[in-house]
Amino acid sequence: MFPFGNTCHTGKEDLRETNYKPNFTTDNMKKIALIYGSTTDNTKWIAERIAAKLSAYEVDLIDVARLKAEQLAQYYNLILGTSTWGAGDIQNDWESFLPKLKDVNLSGKVVALFGLGDSYSYADTFVDGMAQLYEAVKDRGCTVVGAVSPDGYVHASSNAVVDGNFVGLPLDQDNESDRTDARIDGWLSEIESLFIG
Ligand SMILES: Cc1cc2nc3c(=O)[nH]c(=O)nc-3n(C[C@H](O)[C@H](O)[C@H](O)COP(=O)(O)O)c2cc1C
Repeated sequence: MFPFGNTCHTGKEDLRETNYKPNFTTDNMKKIALIYGSTTDNTKWIAERIAAKLSAYEVDLIDVARLKAEQLAQYYNLILGTSTWGAGDIQNDWESFLPKLKDVNLSGKVVALFGLGDSYSYADTFVDGMAQLYEAVKDRGCTVVGAVSPDGYVHASSNAVVDGNFVGLPLDQDNESDRTDARIDGWLSEIESLFIG
């Protein structure tokens, strides 16, 4: 790896006479792809909030509707977010992308999941879409981080609860938006150090 960012410098240039500015941050920053699928923009808005809170990192915010599978090769760290529609269905754009995700080599990557849902009106299928993301990435050689205790959530049942914990961060903007920021902050404090630099 070159010490001064992506450009190869021979050491023979007179740096005082160029516009060259050494970039010490880019190479050292953890690079994260934050990918969301959103129908009425709730998940999009949350993804933007998470990205803002990760300002110390290089975060690429990507709508899964515009994602090409080959883009994922450049990231060690993935944060994937979806809402749930129908009765426990993953968001439409994610549904279209999941077959393509099968061809992505996830080996060695760190993956964190978040899910938007409505724990009151859809108490039996709360954030089930996140469970489908989990099914798509588990046992693929990546490390799934950021499991969350169901304590404090009022849902009746969820496929996204595995071994007693949610497989990622559940958020309910329909009923509990006042708790969202604290939930995101707590989750990020658990997972930030686990991302690969
Ligand atoms: C018709 C309909 C079906 C829904 N089904 C579920 C569901 O099964 N489980 C759930 O947790 N939330 C469900 N929701 C709630 C959405 O997931 C929630 O409003 C979410 O914030 C939408 O995010 P988006 O705008 O990013 O797509 C449903 C909402 C609607 C309107």
